Amino acid sequence: KIYTEQYCPQYHFSPPEKWMNDPNGLVYNNGLYHLFYQYYPEDIVWGPMHWGHAVSHDMVYWKHKPIALYPDEHGLIFSGSAVVDKNNTSGFGVDGKEPLVAVFTYHLMEGEKAGRNDFQTQGIAYSLDNGDTWTKYDGNPVIDNKGIRDFRDPKVFWHDKTQSWILVLVAGDHAKFYTSKDLKKWRYLSEFGKYRGAHGGVWECPDLFPLKVEGTDKEKWVLIISINPGAPNGGSETQYFIGDFDGITFTSTQKKQKWLDYGTDNYAGVTYNNTPDGKRIFIGWMSNWDYARNTPTKKWRSAMTIPRELLLKKIEDDYVLASMPLAEINTLATAVLEKFKVASGNSDTLNVKDLNQSKITFTTASRDFKLIFSNDLKETLVLAMNFKNNGFIVDRMKSGDTGFQSEFGNKKHFVPIKEFTNEFFDVNILLDWSSIEIFLDNGIYSITEQIFPTEPFNQLIIENSDYQAEIENGEIQFMKSVW
Ligand code: FRU
Repeated sequence: KIYTEQYCPQYHFSPPEKWMNDPNGLVYNNGLYHLFYQYYPEDIVWGPMHWGHAVSHDMVYWKHKPIALYPDEHGLIFSGSAVVDKNNTSGFGVDGKEPLVAVFTYHLMEGEKAGRNDFQTQGIAYSLDNGDTWTKYDGNPVIDNKGIRDFRDPKVFWHDKTQSWILVLVAGDHAKFYTSKDLKKWRYLSEFGKYRGAHGGVWECPDLFPLKVEGTDKEKWVLIISINPGAPNGGSETQYFIGDFDGITFTSTQKKQKWLDYGTDNYAGVTYNNTPDGKRIFIGWMSNWDYARNTPTKKWRSAMTIPRELLLKKIEDDYVLASMPLAEINTLATAVLEKFKVASGNSDTLNVKDLNQSKITFTTASRDFKLIFSNDLKETLVLAMNFKNNGFIVDRMKSGDTGFQSEFGNKKHFVPIKEFTNEFFDVNILLDWSSIEIFLDNGIYSITEQIFPTEPFNQLIIENSDYQAEIENGEIQFMKSVW
């Protein structure tokens, strides 16, 4: 039986068994959202990488598919993306079938072991049956390596204005852009990032896409870059830059990175190509390289974030990338477990049996409150909004099993927040058996964390220490299992 193990998420995507890391090849085609992922089918720790595969009609319920890509003579199959080649530019299509083309990194173990620097190259494969079976291109690799040690994670998309494919990959401390007419021959364009953003670690898993500024017709380009290590709360996380892309160069006036998520467990996230409604949908890997290999699960390891819609907001003179759980996820919220309202200077204790599989929402103008989740063993997870300290805190130090790796529970996690966009803001929390996702102020702040309470949380204490504002419209809803 699968999905019954302790800590196994009930409404997040996780592999039926064995090790998973980055989401790959996120693409919509013919009624299906594809989710490929870095997968090692032999163990629950990282090993020779394959592309695992699942599909969904709604990104709520997933169906597992056989492994899509296996290692071959060019190497292991590292992260990458997939596109629908509607005009058959690649020539892979036969009998009018549109090819689905995957673009990924080959990692040649032997090359790495021999101490060479050219062991990562880019390859492609295609499918003519909407992802069920794949053929590797016999001209692989399509982008060779001239001696760059970290040279990987290609994200490809169709660029209308120049009628060409654009590829962005990372090369250690910067991103490189390439162009192609047929997905096979690639020409180098430009680079970005050596002197921008965070450089505490190597750059990984880039993504580049246009997004309308909410409420306007103006379009800006967003460049997403994961970084490991160097995250604000330790280990790996994802930064982004807002700018413009003209088909050749990405430019941005932004010097400092912005963080897509302030938690410790949202890494290597990228967005879907070809969504039917034009929405920009993001999925991240809900772990952190600091301790990903050590989390206390037995048959499987790690899950994906809930799919999120990305929205670009202009706040005063600044652009901010907000993320909110995809609206479809709400169809799982089937029963109200509790409603609450906490007056200023008051506290409320809610005993709720199914807290570990719930969605918690409220609105408030309170700038000083605490949410304390606990179980019969007195394990606690504390979320604290405290404007005197300019921010929001997640304290999982005593949240259950934290001892599997020292980096997991060694400190409180801090989210700097000076002000919200309005006096009233919304709090949106998704709790599953081993994760919590917190969205504040319409998703302007998102915080994703793993937790391993050894018994389910069954109590929520809400302390509202603000003497001027209530906590209102509080609701705890049960989230149905998708498995
Ligand atoms: C990010 C990453 C990628 C790489 C993959 C290997 O987590 O390190 O850069 O392609 O994982 O599994």
